[in-house]
Amino acid sequence: MTNHVRPLVVGNWKMNLDFVEAVHLGQQIGVILKNRPAEHTDVVIAPPFVDLRSVASIIASERMLIALGAQHVNAQENGAHTGEVSLSMLRRLNVDWVLVGHSERRTNYSMSDELVKLTLRTVATSGMKAVLCVGEESGVREEGRHLDFVAEQLRHAIEGLDEKSRSAVTVAYEPLWAIGSGTSATVEQIAEMTSHVKAILRSESMAESRVLYGGSVTADNATSIITDGGVDGFLVGGASLKAESFVAIVHACNGCYAGKR
Ligand code: PGA
Repeated sequence: MTNHVRPLVVGNWKMNLDFVEAVHLGQQIGVILKNRPAEHTDVVIAPPFVDLRSVASIIASERMLIALGAQHVNAQENGAHTGEVSLSMLRRLNVDWVLVGHSERRTNYSMSDELVKLTLRTVATSGMKAVLCVGEESGVREEGRHLDFVAEQLRHAIEGLDEKSRSAVTVAYEPLWAIGSGTSATVEQIAEMTSHVKAILRSESMAESRVLYGGSVTADNATSIITDGGVDGFLVGGASLKAESFVAIVHACNGCYAGKR
């Protein structure tokens, strides 16, 4: 099956790589993509905050076709929020994308559904693009509540967003039990959730929004997931820390895009 939506691959570097290492990895990705362009696929890398400026410089100086993302942002514009970073600070660094509500923020840093909603609104109304992360814990799936759970997370986050802002939202389905586990969800599980999420998006005037999958995506499983899982790309953690595996995932998406065939 070919894909008719332009795919998107986002590399989430999480809390890895200091700025020297980040520049090195950024350069490696740039070189491989220059030699083997992936012209039908949008590529975003999301390094830690402290690496953003260095990676932005590399992207600009090497004229790489890669956009810069941040892993989180504070919903407030400025003020007494020790340790946090605002959207205007990110914009000055040429950041175009922000991950909103990654499960590690929700689970380990008490990011509530309400805060996810506020943060999504801050990003999406600013003209920047958001990757809204949703996904269930294993217990929720075992009880058979995963579809309702994800629908609730999604509907809550986009509630009250105007139509223009909705167009800035990409959804990433990331089941918590698959993240960093080395075992991705099955293609059938991904296909079921993707079509469920897409049906919700259609009913919310967001038919154009892309739906990504994340959770132990590798160069080896990317082709079957993009081909049969119905997704429009990936949010990649561990495999985005090696240039070869990250670019292989980008090429898997590129090869599946209908325009190329
Ligand atoms: P993983 O992480 O690819 O290492 O499973 C994905 C994510 O958390 O975004």
